[in-house]
Amino acid sequence: MKKKIKPIWGIRIKGDTTSTFQKVSSSIHVDKRLFKEDILASIIHVEMLNKQKIINFKIKNKIIWGLKKIQNQIIKKNYIFDYKDEDIHMSIEKKLFELIGEDAGFIHTARSRNDQVLVDLKIWMINSNKKLIKMLEQTINNILKIAEKNIYTIMPGFTHLKNAQPISFAHYILAYVEMFIRDRNRFNNNFSNLKENPLGSCALSGTSFNIDRNYTTKKLAFNNPTGNSIDTVSDRDFVLDFLFASSTCAMHISRLAEEFIIWNSDAFKLISMNDNIVTGSSIMPQKKNPDSLEFLRGKVSNSYGNLFSMLTILKGLPLSYFKDLQDDKKIVFDTFDNLSDSIKVLNEVLKNFSVNKNEMLKLAKKGYITATDLADYFVENLNFPFRKSYQITAKIVNYCEKNKKLLSDLSIDELKKIEPNIKDDVIKVFELKNSVNSKKSYGGTSFENIKKMIKKYKNA
Ligand code: ARG
Repeated sequence: MKKKIKPIWGIRIKGDTTSTFQKVSSSIHVDKRLFKEDILASIIHVEMLNKQKIINFKIKNKIIWGLKKIQNQIIKKNYIFDYKDEDIHMSIEKKLFELIGEDAGFIHTARSRNDQVLVDLKIWMINSNKKLIKMLEQTINNILKIAEKNIYTIMPGFTHLKNAQPISFAHYILAYVEMFIRDRNRFNNNFSNLKENPLGSCALSGTSFNIDRNYTTKKLAFNNPTGNSIDTVSDRDFVLDFLFASSTCAMHISRLAEEFIIWNSDAFKLISMNDNIVTGSSIMPQKKNPDSLEFLRGKVSNSYGNLFSMLTILKGLPLSYFKDLQDDKKIVFDTFDNLSDSIKVLNEVLKNFSVNKNEMLKLAKKGYITATDLADYFVENLNFPFRKSYQITAKIVNYCEKNKKLLSDLSIDELKKIEPNIKDDVIKVFELKNSVNSKKSYGGTSFENIKKMIKKYKNA
């Protein structure tokens, strides 16, 4: 009969853990994703222990040899992740014993799983942050290309989803560049907390061994060691930062998705989606549904849910480590997977839709969209206070509505009946192009501004 292997705490804790609890509390199916980070951090840890003369050279080499072998086995899928080993850290340690014998027992000197898991997770998150930043940069580039092609594409700008003022489609889409730049910067800002090295905090109080935390910090590419061992093993603020940045980014994506869904609708028809990002209906043969956009709109719920889970786990949790915290990895991985999928789909959408310029222009002609330009005209040319101009313009709009005319249909005589001081050159303010191009204030929709901003974003 095969000898039953006892857990590390098998002397102190007698008997087996109940089977349900063992199964459901095991996290190995989730944290096995950290195997490379775990092995890397362990190698640096034993190198430091040897440098500090805490373990000898021979043992250090033996441990590193074993760890590298384990890494190879895992990569080659020649490794069994057994839920009975609880987590990736215990699993690797057990395997090390199998490979090198009793000397494996030196690896956990001056270390606890409490700081070990944090080193692994932080290294993983630093790399994942970098991946998200890269993907967002692709998104930004994709949008810049769309903007460059649509500087002179005129559409209605909306407030309350009612025609408000004419804008360039490029100006609209560049609004999302601002959002995604902020998202990118948010992920970038998170590096300062992420890059504090937890290793050496041990269970909660530090260690009596003469360890060198600056050495592991440097070797693992952290910026500095964390300052308080109790805070270190209790802290998951860096997880919250990540979840908040992800939630905000997913929310931005959902806003773009929702707008595109509306504009792609048969009621608006402002954009069309290519066949490779729509799906059909099982019953209605004519349908081309924008499922990709609906996927993006819905996915934000994942980040929000995960952010709330983590906030709730941390609420009222005393210091320092508790098992409650174990779910942090599931939450982070799930958020990362969903957000990176969303950004990938978004990038595909951005390359596979077309702008219906004629429909945009047609819609922009509706809703007395140049009324504000007319009010501005009175202020600039007749020196009226803005409120008075606003009221005269409202009268003119009422007249148009009653007589079923557009502002641009009005003759000078009709206009003069309402405002006698009006001059012939007023006609130019009803021209949509002129309206767009008149918004020359910094950050406005004028064509020159847009060109300048595209240039600026390209160098950002
Ligand atoms: N799997 C555990 C987690 O991720 C590792 C830390 C365990 N520490 C402990 N004291 N039980 O949270």
